[in-house]
Amino acid sequence: MTAPQELQLNYRHAFHAGNFADVVKHVALALCLDRLNAKEAPYRYIDTHAGIGLYDFEGEEAGRSPEWKDGVGRIWEAERGAPDLVRASLAPWLNVIRRLNSGGVQHYPGSPVLAAEMMRKDDALRLCELHPPSAELLRQAMGRDKRVKIEERDGFDALAAYLPPPERRGLVLIDPPFEAGTSERKQDFDWMLKAAARAVKRWPLGTYVFWRPIKDVEAVEAFDSELASMLIEEGGVAAEKLLVADLWVKAIGPGPLGGAGIVIVNPPYGVAEHMRAAMPWLCNLMKQGEGAGWRVETPAEI
Ligand SMILES: C[S@@+](CC[C@H](N)C(=O)[O-])C[C@H]1O[C@@H](n2cnc3c(N)ncnc32)[C@H](O)[C@@H]1O
Repeated sequence: MTAPQELQLNYRHAFHAGNFADVVKHVALALCLDRLNAKEAPYRYIDTHAGIGLYDFEGEEAGRSPEWKDGVGRIWEAERGAPDLVRASLAPWLNVIRRLNSGGVQHYPGSPVLAAEMMRKDDALRLCELHPPSAELLRQAMGRDKRVKIEERDGFDALAAYLPPPERRGLVLIDPPFEAGTSERKQDFDWMLKAAARAVKRWPLGTYVFWRPIKDVEAVEAFDSELASMLIEEGGVAAEKLLVADLWVKAIGPGPLGGAGIVIVNPPYGVAEHMRAAMPWLCNLMKQGEGAGWRVETPAEI
C-alpha cells in the first residue's frame, strides 16, 4: 500500500470549506470543545490533517467553487429564526465565526482556528499538515501562539507518538482528504482504521472524531462496523460510547459529494443530544434535492 506521504497531495480544502460536510464536522467539534472547556483542567487538541486553518470566501478557490454558499452561507442567513435548542447547539461554532467576521461571513475557521479560538491559555494544540504550501498557510493563520505546534508530516504516522497526551484530557480529529482516485479513497479508510487501532490502545479514554464522506454507502457501513468492532474488542471502548452523525443533502449517488459525517468515540456529555437537536434543522436548511436525510445514532441502534 502506498504510504500517505508518497501520494500526490492534490486536495485543497479551500474549494470545500464551509460546505455542508464542514458544517456537520465543525458543529460537532465545537460542541465537544465546549464541553471540554467546562472543566478547568487543561487539555490537548490533536488535528492529524489540519488544512490551512482559515479560509477566505473571497479568495480564488472559494470563488471558483462556492460550496460554502449552500453550507454555512445558508445557516448564516437563517440562524436567527431557528428554535432555541438549535441555536444553543450551533452557538459554540457560530460564536467563533461571528468573532472573525463583521457583517457577512467571509473568513471561515477551519478546525485548527476553530479550536484555537475556543481553547484556553493553558491548553495545547498539535497540528499535522503534510502539504508544504498548506503547512505554510497554516503557520501564518495560527500566528505566534505558544499553545500551538505545527508539524509538516503524515498525521496518521504522527498520531501514536502524541498519545496519551500529558494532560490526559483532549480530543483527536482525524480528517483525511479522501480526494484522489477510488483506490486512494479506500486507502484513507484503511489508514484511519490502522491509526485508530494504534491510538485507542495507547489512549482508550480520549475523544476521537473521525470524518468520512458518504459516496459509497456500503464502504461507509463496512468502515463503521470495522471501526466499532476494533474499538470495542481491542480498545475496550463501550458500544454506547460511539456516536455516528451523518447528513446527506440529496440521495447518495454519483456526482458531487452528497453526504458526509463523523464517528465520535467517547463523545463528551450532551454532545449527542445537541447533535440530535441540530440535525433536522441543518438538513432541512442545507438540502439540495430529493432524498436528503440525517442520522445520529450509536452502533447499538444501527
Ligand atoms: C479535509 S482537509 C482538512 C480540513 C481541516 N481538518 C478542517 O476541518 O478545517 C485535509 C488536509 O490534509 C492534508 N493531508 C493529506 N494527507 C495528509 C497526511 N497523510 N497527513 C497530514 N496531512 C495530510 C491535505 O493537504 C489537506 O490540507
